[in-house]
Parts: sequence; structure tokens; C-alpha cells
Amino acid sequence: MSISNRVQKSMAEGGWIRKMFEEGVILRRQYGDENVFDLTLGNPVMEPPVEFHRELRRLAENPLPGMHRYMQIPGYAETRAAVAAQLSLETGIKFTLDDIIMTCGTAGATNVVLKTILNPGDEVIIFAPYFPEYIYYIDNHGGVAKILPADEQFIPKLDVLEAAISANTKALLINSPNNPSGVVYSESLLYQLGQLLQKKESQYGTQVFLISDEVYRKIIYDGLEYTSPLLHHPRSIIVTSHSKDLALPGERIGYIAVHPDCSQREEMVNGLIHCNRTLGYVNAPALMQNVVSRLQSVTVPIAEYQKKRDFLHGHLSEMGYSVVKPQGAFYLFPKTPLEDDVAFARELLQWQVLTVPGIDFGSPGYIRISYCVDDWTLEGSLAGFRKAAQKFNLG
Ligand SMILES: Cc1ncc(COP(=O)(O)O)c(C=O)c1O
Repeated sequence: MSISNRVQKSMAEGGWIRKMFEEGVILRRQYGDENVFDLTLGNPVMEPPVEFHRELRRLAENPLPGMHRYMQIPGYAETRAAVAAQLSLETGIKFTLDDIIMTCGTAGATNVVLKTILNPGDEVIIFAPYFPEYIYYIDNHGGVAKILPADEQFIPKLDVLEAAISANTKALLINSPNNPSGVVYSESLLYQLGQLLQKKESQYGTQVFLISDEVYRKIIYDGLEYTSPLLHHPRSIIVTSHSKDLALPGERIGYIAVHPDCSQREEMVNGLIHCNRTLGYVNAPALMQNVVSRLQSVTVPIAEYQKKRDFLHGHLSEMGYSVVKPQGAFYLFPKTPLEDDVAFARELLQWQVLTVPGIDFGSPGYIRISYCVDDWTLEGSLAGFRKAAQKFNLG
């Protein structure tokens, strides 16, 4: 066998996002592109903002000397300073460029952080439903994913967390606004999480890092203010990117931000820089670093996502689906009328509606619907959702 047993096992377990993608290819061949309503991927339909194209043109017309060469591993000082300034503005915490490492997306950032902090067997706690790739990332670096259930509103249960933290817990990995639930953690929850981590650190004489995946930080609705988890725990690290807020997932531009008051901050930052290199990323894409330097306060029009949320959430609720109204990101995570979420996702396929079973996110009994798609896709999917609702007596 050419590939390792571990990789073979991981490929066989596969993941439903990929399986549904393959189902979509078959359906498109059969029914035509315009009759398939693909709600599987978090691939933003919006184009990047005009400011992005302006920056690209500026750099193409006025190239900087050496702008395509290797650079310092953490990235260009100008870019890191711009990120630090924006983060300081948003959080009130005083970041400097020395706290920032530019990375290949949030995925790269998360792998770098986990590689840097994990010893074999260290536990990383995540709450279900979670972003499925976390399981691979934790495994990549010898960690053990400890998956905890959230409550019916997808909020972490503090008593469950308290019981789960052990002397082997190295990190709690959170994601707010959340993929797939759309939930945004409140300030009071973040305060309690921080207090709990610090209590457990004192109890065990350990350090428990709070890794905050903020890839949807700027995609937040109804005028809600984002509260930084960093305000409540000094051993916190942000992993994020411009994949969603600037609609640049293919460009792989993200960053790590270490809390300036993190214990042994310098050692941590040096470790992160080392791992950014040794994992083979070397540095974040040079052109994109230059582009995003001046786009730190720019986003795609969030109101358009809010409109899509309102449209689909409104229709699904009216059909009788039980679905928490998302406060951010661009997913809905309704309960399935059948207990078997895979069977329900298959039911939807007969009306050419593609979704992802909740089991992929550690929460069977739900499906994930991605609404960062064209309006015609959302509109076209309604007939299938309605037929399924009628078939299973919702409403
Ligand atoms: C919660 C979450 N984290 C990380 C990622 C990966 O993002 P990136 O493209 O920045 O690597 C995604 C992508 O959908 C995501 O939903």
C-alpha cells in the first residue's frame, strides 16, 4: 500500500462535505446546473470588495522591489503593524506587530498554533457542533480532541467544561461566530470561560490556552457587537483570515495574533514562527500580505448575508423547521425531522437540494445549510425543503 494506514483510514471516513460534493456532480449532469441547489460549501458567493481590486492594481502598476521574494517568516512588518492596529482598535488590547504572524489562512494558523503548543497526548477541547477539519488538525500534531456537547442553543455548557478539563488539557478551541450554528458567544459567556480556565490552571498548575477561531468575526448581524475572548483570558491566541470577510478563501491569507500579556509571549511567538516555517508554509503569500495591509477595516457588504439569512431562516421556520436564528457567519443548522440526519440529507437530494449532515460536525440530528450562495440557489431550494417538511409532517 502506498499511503499510510492513518491517511487511508482518514480518507475512508471521508467527511460528508466531500461526499455531497460528489453527489452534486452527478445531479448536475442529470438535471443541469440551474436545477441543482448546492448549499454545502462555505465558499463565499460575493466577489472581493472594490478596494481589493484597487490595491491589486496599485501593486501591479507600482511593484515594490523584491516583492515576490522570501521574506521574514512572520511576514511584512507593514502588514503586521496594520493588523495589530486594527485589532487594537477592535478589542482595546494594545497589540504590536510583534504579536502578529501572517499565515496561510486560518487553517494554516490553526495548524501552526497546535504544532507549537501540543505534546503527544495533550487534549484540545472543542464543543460540538464544530468545524470538521479541527479533528484532523488536532490529530496532525499528536493531540487528542475532547469533544463536548453544547446546549440546545449551541452554547457551551460550563459544568460540562469544568468536569472535562484535566491536567492534560492544553487548549480550548472556540469558534464564534460559529460554523455551523451561527451562534455568537456573549461577553458574559466569554468571561465565565476565562474564569473557568484560570481556575483550572491554578488547580492543576498548568497553562490552558484559549484558541479563538475568528474567521467569521466581521460577519455578524443585527448590530451585535463582537466581544473579544482575549479580554477574558491572557493565554489566548487568535487564528483567523480574510477568507470570509474579504471573500478571499483561494488566496490563503490569514494571521495568528498572540495576546500581548500571554505568559512567555516571546518564547510562544518564536515557537509559532519556527512552526510556520517547518510545517512548510514558509511565509504567507507575499502579494496578498501587501494587498491586505490597507484593507484591515474593509469587508464585503455584510447586510447582503443578513438578507440571505433572513430569507432562508424565515422560510424554513414558517415551514416548521426548528432552527436557531444565526447571529453571524453564513450557515443555518436546523434540526432534521428524521432522527437520521444522513437519511434526511439524502431525502433532500431527490429535490436536488444539497446539504451536509450534522454528523460531520459532531451533531447528528441536524443538517448544515450554507447560505453564502446566489439568491436563485436559495429560492430554488425552497421547494425541496417544503416537500420534505410536508413528507415528515412539520408545521
Ligand atoms: C470555522 C472555520 N475555521 C477555519 C476555516 C478555514 O478557513 P481558511 O480558509 O481561512 O483557512 C473555515 C472555513 O470554512 C471555518 O469555517
